Amino acid sequence: MSKEHRPSLPDLSKVATTAEIAIPSDPLLRVIGQDEAVKLARISAKQRRNLLLVGPPGTGKSMIAQALALHLPRPTEEIRVVHNPENPERPLIEVKKEEEVRREYASREFASGDLIDPKNAPINVAERLGYRCRNCGTYSSFKERYCPKCQKPKAGDAGTAGNPFGDLMSSLLESSMSVPGMSNIPTGKERVTTTRNRFGKEEVVVFERTGEMIRVLDQDALEKRRELEKQSPRKVIVPLDRNPFVFATGASETELLGDVRHDPYGGHAQLGTQPFDRVVPGAIHEAHQGVLFIDELSHLGNLQRFILTAMQERRFPISGRNPQSSGASVKVDMVPCDFVFVGACNIQDLEQILAPLRSRINGNGYEVLVKTAMEDTQENEARLAQFVAQEIIFDGKIPHASMPAVWAIIKEARRRAKDLDHHTHSLTLRLRELGGLIRAAGDIAIHDGSPLIDEGHIALAIKRSRTVEEQIKERYGSYTRGLGTDLSSAQKEKSPYYFWNEHSGDDQMFH
Ligand SMILES: Nc1ncnc2c1ncn2[C@@H]1O[C@H](COP(=O)(O)OP(=O)(O)OP(=O)(O)O)[C@@H](O)[C@H]1O
Ligand SMILES: [Mg+2]
Repeated sequence: MSKEHRPSLPDLSKVATTAEIAIPSDPLLRVIGQDEAVKLARISAKQRRNLLLVGPPGTGKSMIAQALALHLPRPTEEIRVVHNPENPERPLIEVKKEEEVRREYASREFASGDLIDPKNAPINVAERLGYRCRNCGTYSSFKERYCPKCQKPKAGDAGTAGNPFGDLMSSLLESSMSVPGMSNIPTGKERVTTTRNRFGKEEVVVFERTGEMIRVLDQDALEKRRELEKQSPRKVIVPLDRNPFVFATGASETELLGDVRHDPYGGHAQLGTQPFDRVVPGAIHEAHQGVLFIDELSHLGNLQRFILTAMQERRFPISGRNPQSSGASVKVDMVPCDFVFVGACNIQDLEQILAPLRSRINGNGYEVLVKTAMEDTQENEARLAQFVAQEIIFDGKIPHASMPAVWAIIKEARRRAKDLDHHTHSLTLRLRELGGLIRAAGDIAIHDGSPLIDEGHIALAIKRSRTVEEQIKERYGSYTRGLGTDLSSAQKEKSPYYFWNEHSGDDQMFH
């Protein structure tokens, strides 16, 4: 998005409440104060570069990563695993382009025929499928054996009269199209085959029971269906319509790299689930053509190596990762995983990131230190006001804020920049916490039945948002003096080891 689309910042002297402040539709413009990181995120999206965001919690790292994903072009490929009849434990990969996928879905829809109301079906079809009573002509659910009107059995004779193909055709079709779980319902048949004359040619028409509707399949649809049935079975593991932002924690290897699930029947052709059907993609595959975002990158430990390989090859096999599982013998090669990598971590953890991974990010992307404060200018005050409006809108449960309330928040942002990060003439960018303050003030406003968050609500919320350490300091003058007051008089009289000394006979203490 070019700069022209950027809505102008609010003029705070002309605004009465945050309801009048416009929120940009571009999610990157909703990120306040991180201009450098946002600029690099735009470049990364355009040029498909990687990004490492370093900085303290709650400063917008996840927000930037998410917004970056929305700036990437929509995914154009779908990834499927296909049954390999020659070697079921080596399923094949199929990558389909958008056009083909759409065409296929259309033809599948075509192959599934039209749904009609039983009342619009030929009478003998509706009777034989169990929707219409043969005695009185009343329509009811096929699940009801007896006609709710005349109480007589609906199905009567489910014979073959009127069907030139007899049951031969029906049973042939039945084997391939049976509806699971429906076969033992006693009323009527599941499928009726008839013929009709079309352009002087006789053709087969099949009517199928589908819930409370009837599916009609003409000759073309039947042929299409047979064609689809001839294909090797397959499973879509990364669908075309997907979220381009994939968040991975690296809590487990399988979440990140995929897996092949265990099957107690070991994939036995009749009893078990075929290997291709047990393949589960990892986050790296789901992020294909999108963003793979890893928060707290350093916690990934050794898994970082796999990311490295995936970034290098843009493909990564999926195999069963639990050696005890029947999935362990299954492997799918060459599964695409072409993602834009975005990692986040705080400064202390930087050295836990593998050097080759850093070099890969750097070599094809950018590293950026996010800011903890921004300069205190009129423009940035307006940005902070936009932030207040955003937090209120996205929370959805609190009222808008009056301008005096906004100014009180700006004042608090100034105080926090100074007290937390020793930045003078600045406004804090530790915005998650500032957002918490806005929500707390909103809750107080709701409690008061106030239509707006006002200055008083903010003041109360600031008081409540003090950390316990700050509260101790306030009450006792200093944190250490506070510590002293927390001991009971008995503890104070004796040594600090009073408890242990007095209970030394209690061996549980020392185990
Ligand atoms: N720069 C910012 N601009 C606007 N809102 C922000 C910004 N930073 C944080 N916020 C607000 O705080 C919330 C948390 O921010 P985010 O999740 O991006 O932080 P983070 O840097 O990823 O933190 P962590 O390191 O804890 O994951 C956001 O959803 C947003 O409401
Ligand atoms: Mg985050």
